[in-house]
Amino acid sequence: MNIIVASAEVAPYAKTGGLADISSSLAYQWSHYGQNPIIILPKYKTIDTNYYNFKPTYKVIYVPMAWWMEYAHLWEGTLPDSEIPVYLIENADYFDRYGIYGEPSEYPDNDRRFIFYSRAIFEVAKALNFKPHIIHAHDFHAAFTMAFLKSQYRFDPLFSKTAGVYTIHNLAYQGWFEPERAMNLAGFGMKEFYPGCWFEHYGKVNAMKTGIMFADKITTVSPTYAKEIRNPYYSEGLQGVLNLRGADLIGILNGVDYNIWNPEKDKYIFEKYSINELDKKIKNKLNLLKLIGFNNYGEPELPLFGMVSRLTEQKGIDLLMAKLDDYLGNNLIRFVLLGSGESHYEDYFRGLGWRHPKNSVIHIGYNNALAHKIIASSDFILMPSRFEPCGLTQMYALKYGTIPIVRATGGLNDTVSEYIPITGKGNGFVFLHYDAGDFDYAVKRALRIYNSQPHWNIIRKNAMSEDFSSSKTALEYLKVFKWALEKVL
Ligand code: ADP
Ligand code: GLC
Repeated sequence: MNIIVASAEVAPYAKTGGLADISSSLAYQWSHYGQNPIIILPKYKTIDTNYYNFKPTYKVIYVPMAWWMEYAHLWEGTLPDSEIPVYLIENADYFDRYGIYGEPSEYPDNDRRFIFYSRAIFEVAKALNFKPHIIHAHDFHAAFTMAFLKSQYRFDPLFSKTAGVYTIHNLAYQGWFEPERAMNLAGFGMKEFYPGCWFEHYGKVNAMKTGIMFADKITTVSPTYAKEIRNPYYSEGLQGVLNLRGADLIGILNGVDYNIWNPEKDKYIFEKYSINELDKKIKNKLNLLKLIGFNNYGEPELPLFGMVSRLTEQKGIDLLMAKLDDYLGNNLIRFVLLGSGESHYEDYFRGLGWRHPKNSVIHIGYNNALAHKIIASSDFILMPSRFEPCGLTQMYALKYGTIPIVRATGGLNDTVSEYIPITGKGNGFVFLHYDAGDFDYAVKRALRIYNSQPHWNIIRKNAMSEDFSSSKTALEYLKVFKWALEKVL
């Protein structure tokens, strides 16, 4: 199958979260299964084209916008250690900036930038004479591809048998656009915009809704999230739209690329280890404590709680704000955070670090190598999310024998199960209600198990034995692609 991957984030080139990881790991797996994916990504300023060996093709891509033409240059390369083609769309006006979405607040022309990107996908395919069976679009940034496929490119011989599959990674980001501007830029015009049309939501253009309505099939990133988003608490206002397309919507659990996230192979960690070498995990912990500057790292027995996260309301930081001072003040845990995001959360964590310099280290920023080290070296990883469409961090942590403490929502509910001492089953600690008391009780259960053998070894081995490989995920997507193709053949 020829597959176009349309995603605003693709690891290792451009990443703010899990979207980047899953976009590239699916492409690797499909190629491994003999499929033919190509990736098309904006050429953001921060992509190191020399390092990744991208070359200009000297092709100029003409992209219709409103009633005029805009253009892009096309660069080509391959995903590291593979032959999978990656194309970068170069347009200085739109993408020669430091952020993917903003610096840090959203760029005011994100509507135009991503409509341009979505339209350029088709023109790139034409320039390459690449006839896709599937356009697989991720999140609102690429959502307009689904509308273009069914309108402007409907009768183009290259796309007349192409099916569109749209994957929702996070309903919290929908792409609300000003109708007149967006409808004109996308070439539809205001005659296509009226209450209840496929673009419209509460009087605005909603890119997420557009993707959902025009796609042949819709997926989201875990079975639990697929159920949750039928209800207003999780649907961010789109429950009606999702229920309308309910027959074509399916949840597929994300997976892990175990070539990258694997304690036996990880080039970023201090000491590699396998399931039978838990003693080497402690060396990682000691080295991390030293690296991040704990002067009392001679007390390795204190449990190390790690967190690597975007700092947004989604991630349950309000629960941490209710409890961390207590844990750190009473010397129950050590805490290391790597993250960035909303400034009030960044400020809270900076303050926490100042209040508890002996046992917390706060690193505000983005750092891939440090993320690997924290995930490998911590005893526990905190993900008390208010909602979590899938979550990759807890799956990574499990493979490293780092025990997740999570709220039972979305993909966290599908991957983490409470450790039960009587049966010796379970891989983490789980609480249900978004409530600081429930969170606290889960932490206290975790601390008890941390201090009690053989349970502490059993739970870590349970965690490391889990297999959430993206090879399974990729096969599930191929099934959905076949199902989508039935609609267009
Ligand atoms: P989300 O996509 O909602 O951010 P996921 O758990 O699916 O959550 O994926 C997060 C990914 O981003 C993981 O690979 C995690 O290691 C990475 N990550 C998050 N914050 C940082 C950071 N500050 N520095 C480095 N990596 C980060
Ligand atoms: C989103 C979600 C996260 C998910 C990721 C990849 O960023 O917040 O839960 O794992 O997308 O699908």
